[in-house]
Amino acid sequence: MTLWGCVGMSPVLLGEPPHVDAQGTALARRLVPAQRGTRAKLRVGVVGLGKQALDDHIPGIAASDAADLVAVCDDDDNVLREQGSLGVASYREFRQMITAEQLDFVVVTVPHNVGAAVVEAAAERGVHVLKEKPFATTLTEARRLAQVCSDAGIELMVTLQRRFNPIYTSFPQLADQIGTAFMIEAQYTLHIDDPSEGWRGSAAKAGGGCIIDMGYHIIDTLLWYFGLPNRILADTSVQARPDRSYDAEDSALIHFGYDSGLYGSLLLSRFIGPKTEHIRLIGSKGIVHLERGHIRRLGNNGQVEESLTRDQAWKSAAVSQINYFCRVIDGSRVNISCPGHNLDHMRFIAACYASAKTHTYVDPKEAI
Ligand SMILES: NC(=O)c1ccc[n+]([C@@H]2O[C@H](COP(=O)([O-])OP(=O)(O)OC[C@H]3O[C@@H](n4cnc5c(N)ncnc54)[C@H](O)[C@@H]3O)[C@@H](O)[C@H]2O)c1
Repeated sequence: MTLWGCVGMSPVLLGEPPHVDAQGTALARRLVPAQRGTRAKLRVGVVGLGKQALDDHIPGIAASDAADLVAVCDDDDNVLREQGSLGVASYREFRQMITAEQLDFVVVTVPHNVGAAVVEAAAERGVHVLKEKPFATTLTEARRLAQVCSDAGIELMVTLQRRFNPIYTSFPQLADQIGTAFMIEAQYTLHIDDPSEGWRGSAAKAGGGCIIDMGYHIIDTLLWYFGLPNRILADTSVQARPDRSYDAEDSALIHFGYDSGLYGSLLLSRFIGPKTEHIRLIGSKGIVHLERGHIRRLGNNGQVEESLTRDQAWKSAAVSQINYFCRVIDGSRVNISCPGHNLDHMRFIAACYASAKTHTYVDPKEAI
């Protein structure tokens, strides 16, 4: 097993994600300037004007010097009316938008079960796609979409904003200093009062619950740092609100292990507050503790050896991500979150769901 998966053991520059190919192999950094000042901005359409589009992507596009918002789409008339102030062409039907507008790429921020159809419509027209996580709702769908993108020759990048955050990119540098890493302890939890609410309460619409939804981010981070595990054992629950009816898991506890001896646990929940996110890597000569905005290297006795803090900069990842994808399209950056790469995320997730059903270990490489 390669301990670092995509990143490799080489140092990474703060603020810029490492370059990796579709197999997740670290590549030499290409220092080709994008020369945006001399080029037209790329034309972008956004499909799905919900929370993620309005909080992150539309402000990200507005702040970008590489992309221009030219059209938006939502199938809810009220939402379209409310967003009239965006001042661009608006559509109820994404196929119509993709056909009518000369788009360079679409940002896809729709409920998970709608995503595949938008990707297919964009691919048909040769329009690139910046897709909100998850890549797909199932591993089967992911394989099909990877083929669709490859046949159409389009770039699809799944949005994983932690890869654009220097706190996260500095993890491997600190982890290099703690001897032999043998254990990982990770957690991502938050509290939603009613897990049955909206499309997220339905496994058919969301593809699952906390594992495939919010869990996608921390699973990405684990794959980025450590690669795909050799075995996964997961338990999931839909019991946090017995007074509500839903089938998308509210919580999950996942044990994962590597043939190298490294092993770990991941607690995910969309019911257990307060909001917490951390990854702790324990080694023979120290500990690395990563949380939002803060990373520390500790001695094995818990004493802090060094630390790095980033203040209130979370949103800057949105514009970095848009600008980075524009560079992927113009060929000056490697797609760090392409379909081939995200198949591993979907294997990890499929293994969790299979294990939760069978109560046995599942090898994610053999997940179907
Ligand atoms: N990266 C992150 O941190 C992060 C955070 C939140 C959500 N997300 C992701 O963003 C995506 C959207 O999540 P959200 O929280 O914004 O959801 P949301 O429910 O707030 O918004 C979804 C929007 O899509 C619209 N929509 C539904 N079907 C449509 C269709 N057929 N055509 C056009 N529009 C349609 C809905 O009307 C709604 O306005 C999901 O993939 C989610 O996982 C990512």
